[in-house]
Amino acid sequence: MTLINAEIKDKIALLTLNRPEALNALNSELLNELYDRLKKLEQENDLRCLIITGSGEKAFAAGADIGEMAEMDADQAEEFAAFGHKVFSYLSAFPCPVIASIHGYALGGGFELALACDIRIAADTARFSFPETGLGITPGFGGTQRLARLTQAAYAMELIFTGRRIKGEEALEKGIINLLVPAADLRDETMKIAESIAGKAPIAIRMAKAAIHQGLDLDLETGMEVEAELFAECFESNDQKAAMQAFLKKESFTDFRNK
Ligand code: CAA
Repeated sequence: MTLINAEIKDKIALLTLNRPEALNALNSELLNELYDRLKKLEQENDLRCLIITGSGEKAFAAGADIGEMAEMDADQAEEFAAFGHKVFSYLSAFPCPVIASIHGYALGGGFELALACDIRIAADTARFSFPETGLGITPGFGGTQRLARLTQAAYAMELIFTGRRIKGEEALEKGIINLLVPAADLRDETMKIAESIAGKAPIAIRMAKAAIHQGLDLDLETGMEVEAELFAECFESNDQKAAMQAFLKKESFTDFRNK
């Protein structure tokens, strides 16, 4: 059985965590498969958007696998966290936009997986928390870093120290998710955003993603320099030339070719 299902349709890839009997808990095998799938997908010509979701009714992912972690010593735990970081950083730096489509539990490592994506769309069934401190550990797949950067350090501290579980409304209010939708609409609403991204100039989107990601680690002036370089790169594409010429001729243009 494969632990990650992969489908590609109309230049949009959908990766589904497929371990529903364990609420898609992230064990080493699943993380390895996710990493392999991402590496293969990166070779796909003209992929425009990637969606990550979980199988089953109950969870996006209920965290790192507790059964596996229970047997680890400190060295193995460090290796496990380092591999989780490697996979999630690879996902975060994936060249095209990555959307997390979240229903049910997104706990611990599952919350961290969602935080590694560019955009988060949640169903009203979504529940987020960091239960780690109740298991005698800290978050280990980037949660202490990404939540503090995405929201505020004090808020990340409260959620991580207490393990408080939050619903979609609070996640939306705090800027953790982009959109909150009824569970029945999650797939359609996710696809709508993915299709909207897929309909725009793919080179421009990759450059915009790179500019935002790189800029987050830079001071404003250096970030502007990165932006100028990536802006300039767009002008080497046929898509930029064709789209601007179409505008000048008052024609509509959607035929982006990724070159
Ligand atoms: N690891 C391993 N197995 C898990 C799991 C996890 N994180 N979460 C759920 N499961 C398994 C359960 O053991 C259970 O398996 P069995 O049927 O074989 O007993 C199955 O999934 C269904 O789970 P429950 O019966 O517990 O379902 P529930 O509806 O009663 O409860 C839940 C759901 C509240 C999410 C509960 O399963 C739970 O608390 N899970 C653990 C959540 C958690 O603590 N996550 C953080 C892990 S630590 C981490 O992620 C560290 C890190 O940052 C790297």
